[in-house]
Amino acid sequence: MKTILQNCKAESGAIWYATELQTDDEDEEPEVVLHPFFWVGSSDLTSLSHVPGEGAVGRVFQNQEAERYLTFSAADDPVTVSDFEDTEITSMICVPFSSTKKNLGCIQFVNKVGGGSFTAEEADVCEMMAMLAAMAIEENDNLQPAWKPGKTVMRVRGVTREFQNGDVVTKVLKGVNLDVYEGEFLVLLGESGCGKSTLLNIIGGMDHPTSGTFECFGEELSQADQDKLTEYRRDNIGFIFQSYNLMPNLNATQNLELIASLVPNPMSADEALDIVNLSERKHNYPSQMSGGQQQRVSIARALMKRPPIILADEPTAALDYTTSIEVLEVMEKIIAEGTTMIMVTHNEEICRMADRVVRMRNGRMAEVTINRRKAHATDLVW
Ligand SMILES: Nc1ncnc2c1ncn2[C@@H]1O[C@H](COP(=O)(O)OP(=O)(O)O)[C@@H](O)[C@H]1O
Ligand SMILES: [Mg+2]
Repeated sequence: MKTILQNCKAESGAIWYATELQTDDEDEEPEVVLHPFFWVGSSDLTSLSHVPGEGAVGRVFQNQEAERYLTFSAADDPVTVSDFEDTEITSMICVPFSSTKKNLGCIQFVNKVGGGSFTAEEADVCEMMAMLAAMAIEENDNLQPAWKPGKTVMRVRGVTREFQNGDVVTKVLKGVNLDVYEGEFLVLLGESGCGKSTLLNIIGGMDHPTSGTFECFGEELSQADQDKLTEYRRDNIGFIFQSYNLMPNLNATQNLELIASLVPNPMSADEALDIVNLSERKHNYPSQMSGGQQQRVSIARALMKRPPIILADEPTAALDYTTSIEVLEVMEKIIAEGTTMIMVTHNEEICRMADRVVRMRNGRMAEVTINRRKAHATDLVW
């Protein structure tokens, strides 16, 4: 993709792959959704999934005809222009990603390098490269993405977060768009200070965005009041932090039972400790356990309420290599059982375990990649 972008003189781009969602009803036509299977560059794409016919991406897929906005102007179709309002997209070429036999999706090229407009010849190159890529993929099954996105569970659109200290306003999130899919392991990677925790706090219902919207399971929560957010967190989210936050005067089982008393239909402490491979430590106090073991107790605590989504903020940052792998093995097991996991880290190696890696830079999403083959926790080395 990077080579294609260079040849097409585009700053950013995405390959949108069409996938069929499973339906419960066999007679029903499967619903097709387009997801960005590869995305690189600084431009913020306004939306991270499209249905056929919707938006430039959806239209190009459906009509099999390229749309070219060599540079946006007021004279363009107002519907398309409004799609890109408030974004830094000034020019865009969207072309079918299909060979003679198969309609795979579409490729979007965003912003000419150095600004200005694309030329018609450059748009032709984009179209041809997309066709060549589609043919290559068709001939080589190994290039087909193995990842199939599930239903969208979270939808983040245009989220900003500013902090005000006296007269100084710091813009930490500068317009984040992100979809999270059911059952996926999403790794949010980025350097210290780029806004990862701030974003995690917003989608975890612990903070409000300054602007933009955030939806989980179809419910809009960006302006929800404290009661609503408390309910949202209780029913949906398990948190794991870098620090374990265990009660020092309670043993492993007691630490879990403290939570069990606060949630409806909790798991038993024994069951949760079994999942994190700590049954033999159930009577140990935190001071009698290693960092990795304490972190596993804190994971068990997050599991007690059977949350559909787990948010983990640098869960292995305080651990050495061996205990980190123990913790990641537990995470792997939980994900395999269907939990949606979003993990913040600055450890590049952990990315190899993810379904999708979203790279953040300076308060924005900079790149999304999908792992064609996922590594196991035990394969990681650092
Ligand atoms: N409550 C706050 N008030 C002011 N600045 C904050 C606040 N929270 C975070 N920031 C700033 O926002 C930036 C991003 O923070 P954070 O989301 O924690 O980054 P990351 O998790 O990627 O390391 C940092 O520069 C931090 O100082
Ligand atoms: Mg952080």
